[in-house]
Amino acid sequence: MFEQDVIVIGAGAAGLFCAAQAGKRGRRVVVLDHAKKVGRKILMSGGGRCNFTNMYASAENFLSDNPHFCKSALSRYTQWDFIGLVSDYGIPYHEKTLGQLFCDDSAKDIVNLLMGECESAGVAIHTQCEILDVDKTTSGFVLQTSRGEYRCESLVVATGGLSMPKLGASPFGYRLAEQFGLRVLPTRAGLVPFTLHEQDKQVLAELSGISLDASAQCNNTSFNESILFTHRGLSGPAVLQISSYWHSGDTVTFDLYPHGTMLEVLQQGQQQHPEAQLSTLLSQHYAKRCVQTLLPYLGIDNKPLKQYQGKQLQQVADKLHAWQIQPNGTEGYRTAEVTLGGVDTEGLSSKTLMAKDVEGLFFIGEVVDVTGWLGGYNFQWAWSSGWVAGQNA
Ligand code: FDA
Repeated sequence: MFEQDVIVIGAGAAGLFCAAQAGKRGRRVVVLDHAKKVGRKILMSGGGRCNFTNMYASAENFLSDNPHFCKSALSRYTQWDFIGLVSDYGIPYHEKTLGQLFCDDSAKDIVNLLMGECESAGVAIHTQCEILDVDKTTSGFVLQTSRGEYRCESLVVATGGLSMPKLGASPFGYRLAEQFGLRVLPTRAGLVPFTLHEQDKQVLAELSGISLDASAQCNNTSFNESILFTHRGLSGPAVLQISSYWHSGDTVTFDLYPHGTMLEVLQQGQQQHPEAQLSTLLSQHYAKRCVQTLLPYLGIDNKPLKQYQGKQLQQVADKLHAWQIQPNGTEGYRTAEVTLGGVDTEGLSSKTLMAKDVEGLFFIGEVVDVTGWLGGYNFQWAWSSGWVAGQNA
């Protein structure tokens, strides 16, 4: 039998960080994970370079049923605190774009940082440990596992979401929350590519591999980044971002000329090169293959510029500024970066991350109904929520 002060279930970003904080307070801590290796998602993240935080992280970059819930944790352990720790470890990093900080070398640097923090705080990590049963006792919790019985005063659940089941994702945290009477909000895949209806897919698959600057808009939210046509549908940063705001049946509007006024481009082109075809003019702004496919797809005639009336030029511009498409669905948890929904924050204290009605039971990281945008925000939530629970567990 293993007697601990704190057991953390889940050796991912939030769990390892939380364990180190609790260990530093002198608590005896063990982290249990069913997987063979710790931090597998971290190793995969950011194309192997881990976008470990965002310089501009704030509550506005998160989705949750209660948008205020994440504020306390984010302000108590900020991106600057984590950046300081990364610097203390001498990890080289850079800003890629929009405040997104990536390791120069490898995501392994972040896993090594977490392991270093756990080691110096005396945290034990037991992998390949299946949790079979969890019970509450008067003084804490008792866990039956494939490695024997564990007892603890505080239990921290950091089992993440459902995305990428191949990397060890499981619904364990949600089931445990329900077992202890906490509400779990419906989950769905977020930061995920769209799949398309057959007629759109057939045409747009021809553009597979082409990326465009675009803004994607849905449900009063928009992201101005880039989109990528794939052989399955639509991907790229703007698409992943808007997917978190999209619900089945919604239409997404793409502005395919987000940095300027297409009507001015068309009017100028008409004045300067009246004999030129519309497609020739547009090829100065988009890949040729894109123009050839998009014009008929969007119902835009291709003819010499001089043949367009003012109103027709306006219609062409409108179609490029507001291409509307109804995705068929998303690629789902198989490729999603995150899971939206999860343990309802209503049942948790924002100051401690402990369940309001279950003394000693904490939920942190992605298992909680707090989901960040693409760009390092999800790891920042893992660090912030992990830090807060680590001070209290
Ligand atoms: P996480 O999923 O990291 O860890 C959960 C742990 O619990 C795992 O080790 C798992 O094995 C374990 N577990 C699950 N069920 C269990 C059970 N029943 N028993 C025992 N253990 C169990 N975010 C970001 O900010 N920047 C980025 O660059 C990226 N990139 C990225 C790429 C890819 C491919 C994905 C899938 C995701 C990202 N993300 C990201 C999102 C980010 O990885 C994610 O939000 C955090 O890892 C969440 O941290 P958690 O610790 O909450 O869960």
